[in-house]
Amino acid sequence: MGKPLIAGNWKMHGTAESALTLAAQLNQYRFQENAAEMIIFPPLVHISAVSAVLADSSIALGAQNVSQYSNGAYTGEVSGEMLLDQGCKYVLVGHSERRAVMGESSQVVAEKFRAAQNAGLIPILCVGETLEQRHAGKTLEVVAKQIDAVIDLVGLNKVIQAVIAYEPVWAIGTGETASPQQAQQVHSAIRTQLGEAGQATTLLYGGSVNASNAAELFEQLDIDGGLVGGASLEADKFLKIAQLVEA
Ligand code: PGA
Repeated sequence: MGKPLIAGNWKMHGTAESALTLAAQLNQYRFQENAAEMIIFPPLVHISAVSAVLADSSIALGAQNVSQYSNGAYTGEVSGEMLLDQGCKYVLVGHSERRAVMGESSQVVAEKFRAAQNAGLIPILCVGETLEQRHAGKTLEVVAKQIDAVIDLVGLNKVIQAVIAYEPVWAIGTGETASPQQAQQVHSAIRTQLGEAGQATTLLYGGSVNASNAAELFEQLDIDGGLVGGASLEADKFLKIAQLVEA
């Protein structure tokens, strides 16, 4: 079992005003001492404003993306050090939307993972299969390869210090969730891949998590929490899900 976490990925939604309102609403909530750590991932342009709202908060801040480079002439990119400087603790790497829509290869994802850790951020490495790959019986192979690409670059000892989120691509934003058994099967395979040293690595499930399906998912042995997209955009929905993470 890893440390319980609940992460809200706001993706490319909202204005500065709505971002601040949502952060402030979440921040009003009084978390119990043994509650899961909450992380929110606002759009990059709102990071510094949200960071100010979260000063002294127990809610952690994360970015949705990071450059694989540490600094230099990379127009439009943002480095890990810059994110850390803005108060970020976590960063998503390898989200399926970045892999599929932005064409990020497993090699680039591994480089981003390394850049994040080098800057002092905790990467949340997202992995997952497409529906086609699942139907072809390749789920475990695809996920293992995505993780291996990072292990090959930075070594297992670094990977186990991060967080891994299993997000089946067919379940993201579709309203379709992996069954708790399907999710547990993949989480258990990831746990095995990480070996003895990875027993305490935090493994999240993501893909259409909501207040009705979260409890059963989070009850699974190797699921330590959730990475929530759509349902993290409303404070009450997200807080309901957060309360279902078992501490
Ligand atoms: P969803 O997104 O909860 O809207 O499916 C999850 C994610 O992309 O992290």
